[in-house]
Amino acid sequence: MEIYYVNGSFTNKNRANISVEDRGFNFSDGIYELIAFINKKLIFFDEHSQRLFSSLNSLNIPFPYKNLKSLKLIIAKLISLNKILNGYVYIQITRGTEKRNHVFSNEITPNIVIFILPIRKIKNLQAGIKVRTSQDLRWKRCDIKSISLLPNILEKQLANNTGFYETWQVKNKFITEGTTSNAFIVDKNKAIRTHPKSNLILGGVTRDIIIQIAKQNKIKVLEKKFSINDIKYCSEAFLTSTTVRVLPVVKVDNLKINNSKIGSLTNFLIEEINKKIFNA
Ligand code: PDD
Repeated sequence: MEIYYVNGSFTNKNRANISVEDRGFNFSDGIYELIAFINKKLIFFDEHSQRLFSSLNSLNIPFPYKNLKSLKLIIAKLISLNKILNGYVYIQITRGTEKRNHVFSNEITPNIVIFILPIRKIKNLQAGIKVRTSQDLRWKRCDIKSISLLPNILEKQLANNTGFYETWQVKNKFITEGTTSNAFIVDKNKAIRTHPKSNLILGGVTRDIIIQIAKQNKIKVLEKKFSINDIKYCSEAFLTSTTVRVLPVVKVDNLKINNSKIGSLTNFLIEEINKKIFNA
């Protein structure tokens, strides 16, 4: 039985309801977070909560709990009720329910839905994945983890339908990020390069952890955008996200990376993040 959390109640999925006047449903007026848990332990919870606060702040939606501890207790109970050891917690907070009107009132209160998604098997992806590129069609506040994901899902679907794992989105000749992940290359000087944090990308939690691991190990990190031309001359490429952690990229469009082999730096980063997560 799948148990969902909706506005204070833990209910069977079939009885978990949200109003048709929810502003998330009508306007995508809301935000979300996805947090991995392993052996029931939440991974990088503080970093995800910080981003949750930042997304809520940007949309002027109040945090609906007394404090972070309350949220953590709800999640722990949900994981326990669902009897799952490893997976992801999906948290969605929308502005609330009101008759459809672009303008919302001061009285509106947020709707919160939390549910569990099963762990993804990434073994076959760890051998290296293919990425396509396309124009970045998104708005200018990609730093908000908004539930409005139309360009992302359309480009991810196109990737999926054409034999690729991901689409790297391109703005003015430079890669911003994937549709569900952050994008990295290793340049010929062995420096890791990724788009700087700005309104053009989602500041990924995994991205930050990888940068931290690299710096701690004296690997050079350049938070500087890269182009398709830079990809031509790179020695390795990879992507990061909560669901897959670090995946080696062995092909971008028709360009083979590192002769389709996983690079040593990418392998090192995979080992280090796994140590951090599984030995914590
Ligand atoms: N997506 N960029 C985008 C557009 C994303 O949607 C995600 C994550 C990331 C990586 O962020 P993080 O490392 O914090 O997971 C970057 C999640 C997994 C999702 O939408 O399901």
